[in-house]
Amino acid sequence: MSLRLLTAGESHGPELVLILEGMPAGVPVDPEDIDRQLRRRQGGHGRGARSTKVERDHAEITSGVALGRTTGAPVAMRIENLDFANQPTSKPVLTTPRPGHADLAGATKFGLGDLRVVRERASARETAARVAAAALLRPLLGAFGIDLGSFVTAIGPVGMDTDLAGLAGSELRQMADRAESDAVRCPDPERALAMIAAIDGARLERQTLGGVFVVFATGVPVGLGSYTHWDRRIDGRLAGAICSIPAVKGVEIGPAFGVSQMAGAGAQDSIVRTETGLERASNFAGGIEGGVTNGEPVLLRAAMKPLSSVRARVTSVDLETGAPADPAYIRSDVCAVPAAAVVGEAMMACVLGSAIVDRFGGDRLDAMLAAAAVAGQPNGDWAS
Ligand SMILES: Cc1cc2nc3c(=O)[nH]c(=O)nc-3n(C[C@H](O)[C@H](O)[C@H](O)COP(=O)(O)O)c2cc1C
Repeated sequence: MSLRLLTAGESHGPELVLILEGMPAGVPVDPEDIDRQLRRRQGGHGRGARSTKVERDHAEITSGVALGRTTGAPVAMRIENLDFANQPTSKPVLTTPRPGHADLAGATKFGLGDLRVVRERASARETAARVAAAALLRPLLGAFGIDLGSFVTAIGPVGMDTDLAGLAGSELRQMADRAESDAVRCPDPERALAMIAAIDGARLERQTLGGVFVVFATGVPVGLGSYTHWDRRIDGRLAGAICSIPAVKGVEIGPAFGVSQMAGAGAQDSIVRTETGLERASNFAGGIEGGVTNGEPVLLRAAMKPLSSVRARVTSVDLETGAPADPAYIRSDVCAVPAAAVVGEAMMACVLGSAIVDRFGGDRLDAMLAAAAVAGQPNGDWAS
């Protein structure tokens, strides 16, 4: 709501650009950390050559930052596409749409004769801009004690059991730390090996794989989002943001699908008084009740479909001739679930960053922190 992220740029154009508008003043900016986040998105077993060999993503900040801090003005960044230099001056017109991509619907919608124009903008290359923007938001969230993380729990048919409702914030952090050094971002080393084997097998069979990832935020203050109107609910905003990641087709808040099979009494997060305040005995709600954060880890799980560009034969029609045709295969990832998890963190940062600005006012970080200090936490300090 308060923060707006705009991105532009084509996959094989000269650059991606982004503008983050509504960013409070005084937030420290570390350009190396932005590039580190970009590298996290580029990695993961199963990525194609472009991501791992051609691009070396680097964000150049062109406005909105002075003396190492945000100024309150819109922050603009550009990320050069190194692959632009490798592009031929003229490319054949593409007229056979790929199922599972925006090709057919996009060309019909905008009246475009060359499907390449659609795929250049529909490409998930755009998610690099989101990750760079979110890297600016992480220190803002960090100032409020919010820590973001992610890990992969399934690739294709290989999954690991996760008791989402029973995981404390510290355990989530440990799992994310283990995932960070793993090739598929899976915290279970044994399952990770099976996932890698599944990806290698899919590559040999000219196939692709999807999977499931968890994104979480710990240290989230009570009261982000609102029950007072449908579009202020933080669960709806998070679900929309996560589903905006290309190829993500499902989102659950906490262990929602499992909870749907439980009886009501066992599926509630009991409220208990401890020495430090009010706490929950579990986290079936994924840290959100009534569209408002409740102080527990905000937790969601996302399902990514198997990538649509497969070397195996798929059926389509040449729009020019009307005859059945194979869409031209374009260099592709075999699996991008680990990268999507990093993009998931970025989308969560965008939603929580905006909600923090909504709740604590957005001109300058020091004033926001002062507002947060008097706002009350889940320790019974709830009424005045
Ligand atoms: C990080 C990332 C990388 C992706 N790489 C590919 C890819 O190499 N090949 C592919 O077919 N789809 C890839 N996708 C998914 C497509 O961009 C997406 O399926 C397509 O744009 C159609 O959108 P939809 O699946 O949301 O309907 C990737 C998605 C993400 C998040």
